[in-house]
Amino acid sequence: MGQGLFITFEGIDGSGKSTYLLRLQQYLSSRGLPVEVTREPGGTELAEILRELLLHSSFQLDARTEVLLYLAARAHHTQYWIKPALDLGKIVLCDRFDLSTLAYQGYGRGLDVFLLEQMNRFATGGLTPHLTLLFDLPVEVAKQRNGGKGGDRMESEGEDFYQKVRQGYLKLRQAHPQRIKLIDADREEGAVWEEVKREVEEFLAVRGLMG
Ligand code: TMP
Repeated sequence: MGQGLFITFEGIDGSGKSTYLLRLQQYLSSRGLPVEVTREPGGTELAEILRELLLHSSFQLDARTEVLLYLAARAHHTQYWIKPALDLGKIVLCDRFDLSTLAYQGYGRGLDVFLLEQMNRFATGGLTPHLTLLFDLPVEVAKQRNGGKGGDRMESEGEDFYQKVRQGYLKLRQAHPQRIKLIDADREEGAVWEEVKREVEEFLAVRGLMG
């Protein structure tokens, strides 16, 4: 899988993960580390087109079609963007990856989680993040932070759906406590950022990349 490190950010919409991802990018770059950021669905031109279809088109999408499009985007992104960056020794920060499919399409939509795990492996050729930060907070708080945006196809799902997604994420964290670090995102920004920094610094220190 190359020499790089693959760190993913997960959580329900409105958890603030994307803000901390950018902050971490700045922090790591300022310390001279080779960091790159990307997102899912997206990251390559083709995957960004799939993102548009998934989030902003008016096509009717059943759960199976939806998951296959997310996975097609992931396969392309992994093959043509993430793996090459890891081969160059980069630290890749990715906004969402495999767990989003398990949480949203598995626990949220009710598709078979075990099957989705296999499909994820197929799409990624077995690439698994080295570290995942899971930003957890109550659904009501996340909705408020999102300003009741309800903007795209996923965000317009109701509270029940998001409760299932949140609980799904927490189950995944229980199953993979080594890889997935839980961040309590229901706190003020400075406190959350300190925890993000601590987790990542610890992770990098073990690999000799930080003091
Ligand atoms: P975001 O980039 O703003 O986080 O939006 C991406 C949306 O897509 C978000 O609502 C979660 C959803 N999603 C899935 O349902 N399954 C997936 O596999 C991925 C990557 C995202």
